[in-house]
Amino acid sequence: MKIVMLGPPGAGKGTQADALSEKMEILHISTGDMFRRAVKDQTAMGLEAKKYMDSGALVPDEVTIGIVRERLAMRDCAKGFILDGFPRTAYQAEALDGILGELEGAMDAVIYISVDTETLIGRLSGRRICKNCSALYHVSYNPPKKEGVCDKCGGELYQRDDDQEETVRRRLEVYNSQTLPLVGYYRDKGLLTEIHGNQRREKVTEDILAALGRSG
Ligand code: AP5
Ligand code: MG
Ligand code: ZN
Repeated sequence: MKIVMLGPPGAGKGTQADALSEKMEILHISTGDMFRRAVKDQTAMGLEAKKYMDSGALVPDEVTIGIVRERLAMRDCAKGFILDGFPRTAYQAEALDGILGELEGAMDAVIYISVDTETLIGRLSGRRICKNCSALYHVSYNPPKKEGVCDKCGGELYQRDDDQEETVRRRLEVYNSQTLPLVGYYRDKGLLTEIHGNQRREKVTEDILAALGRSG
């Protein structure tokens, strides 16, 4: 299956993509995680991307489309994937249609997770991430067993630089102006399912699986 996760910052795209990836045994591809990895490794692309990410802006389309095109052409994507954080501009959405056409595949579903702004801000300010495996936690809603330590791999947890309040507000503005229009784009194509993200994590996962025609 080829699935796109759409939704504002903090909606739970990464959290749900991780859960679905485990249950459905398909790859989770997050452009945000790819950029953060490149920043950590200090590659030329990472240093370029960091300038945009730190200010809450989008990395330029050409860069983003380039890394996605390369990733989706890899053999492990043939069985399907969950795209998290891509596309997020109309130009990227059209590029994705082109890339999938070249690979002789098509999108199966777009899952749009909607959550109100106040909840998003609370989720982002308490989010913690594993430095090693990118697993997601929240200090109140999904705390690790041992403070500051990843349950899955023992890695150290950190707070994303772009989860500072001011940057979060900028990311939400960017989302509303550049990414929200994709809801209409995919609805018109008959691919969109809206899921209420303001529920327990497990319930959100169940709703998504039901929308995809799979039982938990
Ligand atoms: P990216 O990493 O994609 O960030 P984002 O889209 O802003 O989304 P987030 O990762 O913040 O939120 P999420 O929906 O994954 O929520 P999560 O599951 O973590 O992008 C970062 C930057 O990279 C961009 O700003 C841009 O610069 C660049 N970039 C990336 N892709 C790009 C692209 N295509 N084009 C251009 N630039 C790009 O959950 C959030 C928190 O809430 C967690 O703590 C979690 O534990 C908690 N939580 C989750 N679900 C629930 C629930 N149901 N109940 C309670 N708490 C919950
Ligand atoms: Mg994410
Ligand atoms: Zn970890």
